[in-house]
Amino acid sequence: MRKEYDLLDTTQRISTVHRKKRTTLNRVTVNTASRTYDVLIGHELLREAGTHIRAVFPNAQRSFVVTTANVRKHWAGIITESLAIAGFEVIFLEMEDGETAKTMMSVEALAAKMMEKHADRHSIVCALGGGVVGDVAGFLASVFMRGIPVVQMPTTFLAQVDSSVGGKTGVNLKAGKNLVGTFYQPWLVLADPGVFSTLPEREFRSGLYESLKCGIIRRADIFERMDRERQAILQRDPETLAWLITESVRVKADVVSADETETGERRILNFGHTIGHALEAETGYKYFLHGEAVAWGMIAATMIAAGLHKTDSATAQRIISSILALAPLPKIEVSARRTANRIKGDKKTVHGVTHFILPREIGKVDVVTDVPERAVLQAIEELKYLAFAG
Ligand SMILES: NC(=O)c1ccc[n+]([C@@H]2O[C@H](COP(=O)([O-])OP(=O)(O)OC[C@H]3O[C@@H](n4cnc5c(N)ncnc54)[C@H](O)[C@@H]3O)[C@@H](O)[C@H]2O)c1
Ligand SMILES: [Zn+2]
Repeated sequence: MRKEYDLLDTTQRISTVHRKKRTTLNRVTVNTASRTYDVLIGHELLREAGTHIRAVFPNAQRSFVVTTANVRKHWAGIITESLAIAGFEVIFLEMEDGETAKTMMSVEALAAKMMEKHADRHSIVCALGGGVVGDVAGFLASVFMRGIPVVQMPTTFLAQVDSSVGGKTGVNLKAGKNLVGTFYQPWLVLADPGVFSTLPEREFRSGLYESLKCGIIRRADIFERMDRERQAILQRDPETLAWLITESVRVKADVVSADETETGERRILNFGHTIGHALEAETGYKYFLHGEAVAWGMIAATMIAAGLHKTDSATAQRIISSILALAPLPKIEVSARRTANRIKGDKKTVHGVTHFILPREIGKVDVVTDVPERAVLQAIEELKYLAFAG
């Protein structure tokens, strides 16, 4: 039954392949000490996935596509066809959906299935899904037979602009998020904004905050165009999104190229994340989507920067208004004290010193280590009184 359905699905897709032409193809090259690879961004790009993957792996035969039932339902037809045309054998490996599936158990189960299906050192892993699938499949590839190649095919906005690029992989432990993992760069990243046609609205919007973050930390032009073209972005206009993803990836690629393992420059990508992570943890990872918690974290960091006179109040206002105008954020109902305590316990707090990334002007941030705790407490308290301004 499943086979018949797949066949039907594939045939229907074939007829559309030639009708729908991709508009533009953007390329961002990521240079790290361990690998140089391309991130390709283009509407309808997944229809050509096989061709691009074949160009990187002239001799590979077996591709193991790690995904969830949810994503598979919508996108397996296109991927199967495209990989098959390029001469790959395609084997789907399903994992459970959601953050709770980011575990060693998932990795072990996937590795066992790969062995059952005769994977070897010449096989490749393709991660088709959001950040959860990307992190798990990346980790799996990094340890399976001591490392086989991985291609990222991110299907959420967050995964396209953030998690698929940079090589961080990992799973959660009961003790906390991402506690087991590797730095393992992908061989290729294929980002197709066309996949957002099936992405739920809240997931889509939540990812946009990571792009706004790129604007605030490094690129005033991204920040300004996001403000100007907010409507086109929210309506998921393909060309505008291809531009936004490309430029956000460029920011991440630049920063990661300069500092692959996050000892210095890469820290700036954590803007909004110090308080954001604490908010996520304090609410058991169930209340906020990641981007939403980061949005609140960016607002809090901006308030702290203004309070400490690291930025002027007009700049702070602009940043906060742009964040609030993107989408309604879930209300803050946490205890400021407990949240601040969590920051001290964060794995990025080194020898008791917390690094805060604070905006100076739009496009420029500073790493600050002497933020007084009362400034953090006050900022979290103030978040409770802010509301959607769109
Ligand atoms: N490795 C990194 O550098 C890095 C960076 C940021 C975040 N992350 C990780 O990423 C994860 C969050 O990723 P996420 O926000 O993509 O969440 P996610 O992977 O859980 O995806 C969100 C939801 O959207 C669904 N989905 C995905 N693509 C879809 C599509 N095209 N159509 C319909 N539904 C779709 C998924 O099935 C899931 O239910 C976290 O675990 C976080 O730790 C990693
Ligand atoms: Zn993030």
